[in-house]
Amino acid sequence: MTSARTRPVASQTGLAYLSGFGNEHVTEAVPGALPVGRNAPQRAPLGLYTEQLNGTSFTQPRGVNRRSWLYRQMPSAAHPKFSRIGNGSLASAPIADVEPDPNRLRWNPPPWPDRPTDFIDGLFTVCANGDVRCRSGIAVHFYTADTSMLERYFVNADGELLLVPQEGRLVVRTELGVLEVSPGEIAVVPAGIRFRVELRDARARGYVCENYGAGFTLPDRGPIGANGLANERDFLAPTAAYEEIFTTVQVVQKFGGNLWAADYDHSPLDVVAWHGDYAPYKYDLANFMTIGTISFDHPDPSIFTVLSSPTDTPGLANADFVVFPPRWLVGEDTFRPPWFHRNIMSEFMGLVHGVYDAKAEGFLPGGASLHNGFSSHGPDADTYERASTAELVPEHLTDTLAFMFETRWTLVPTRSALSASFAQADYDAVWRGITRRFASA
Ligand SMILES: [Fe+2]
Repeated sequence: MTSARTRPVASQTGLAYLSGFGNEHVTEAVPGALPVGRNAPQRAPLGLYTEQLNGTSFTQPRGVNRRSWLYRQMPSAAHPKFSRIGNGSLASAPIADVEPDPNRLRWNPPPWPDRPTDFIDGLFTVCANGDVRCRSGIAVHFYTADTSMLERYFVNADGELLLVPQEGRLVVRTELGVLEVSPGEIAVVPAGIRFRVELRDARARGYVCENYGAGFTLPDRGPIGANGLANERDFLAPTAAYEEIFTTVQVVQKFGGNLWAADYDHSPLDVVAWHGDYAPYKYDLANFMTIGTISFDHPDPSIFTVLSSPTDTPGLANADFVVFPPRWLVGEDTFRPPWFHRNIMSEFMGLVHGVYDAKAEGFLPGGASLHNGFSSHGPDADTYERASTAELVPEHLTDTLAFMFETRWTLVPTRSALSASFAQADYDAVWRGITRRFASA
């Protein structure tokens, strides 16, 4: 349906942000919209409705408790019945029709859509673990899009969405405000928050970690101290901004692993003011303060952790988001790329731009690799030859931005990902050229 009022009219189109991770933010798009001194007065200001949005159970400890109070034009309860729609290429854990695969897997960048495709329709699930209905595990998706969501909104009841744009800028308009996200930045939309994605460029591609588990938070720093890695102040939440759209719009909800949709007679992005600490946010990976050796050896990749979804076991993540940014390599008598390794954790890797220092070729920007638990991997033959013979002068890696979703359980690929045209047929070949060098005397 189209009309003169179809186009969103935002009260604030400017991008303004609130700084800090997990802060109690306070923001209003219209002066006086926020109640003072209480969360739920008998009547909210300006004829608004009051709604609490809880991202954690009421009684979780203060340090992890997340909730926000929203003051909106219509209560979000005012909507018709949701009906099932097709899931497209979106899947959820458990992936029941595929046996877990011990083989190392790699994909080229997914192709661009051949028909108008928005962010929802462009989601393609690569792999997943855990159980979406038990709030445990993750799913990993590619997205490709060439169309903005103008009368269409998405909300995920199954988990939060960590977006890693690889190409094309996104404008993520959420109930709590607007985030503009470019390649090199990330955005996180918590579970239950409605949003739509506009494209700033002709097309957009990237990665999504759908986190069924506890919300991403900053890792503890231990002996690193009070600063470094991702610093709290660099996480930006949006200021309040609302739409006034009074035509039919579609709200698509992911719930229990499936997509449902309902037609609303107004935009669900009608929050005029909010306060709280359950909010979407963005982060520029260029602000990550990278730590590495200044003597010898290769530290474990946990030093590159940006965000972590914790479990009940200390130090064991449901998922870590780990980034390998531009940095200096100075280790003496050291094989500087990651060594050969086998880990109990499972690793999905992507590349935003440039070259990853453990692979000579074949790991492309927009592509991905999957190394499941105890799968043997590491440098390919060419990289081994280069790194084991290199003159160890200080080296500045500049054109590189790789990342990893590391997770506690085996990631089961979808049948669609295994049979995709962009799946690489013989990833094992990268290790085929490694020769026996052992000499006993
Ligand atoms: Fe690895």
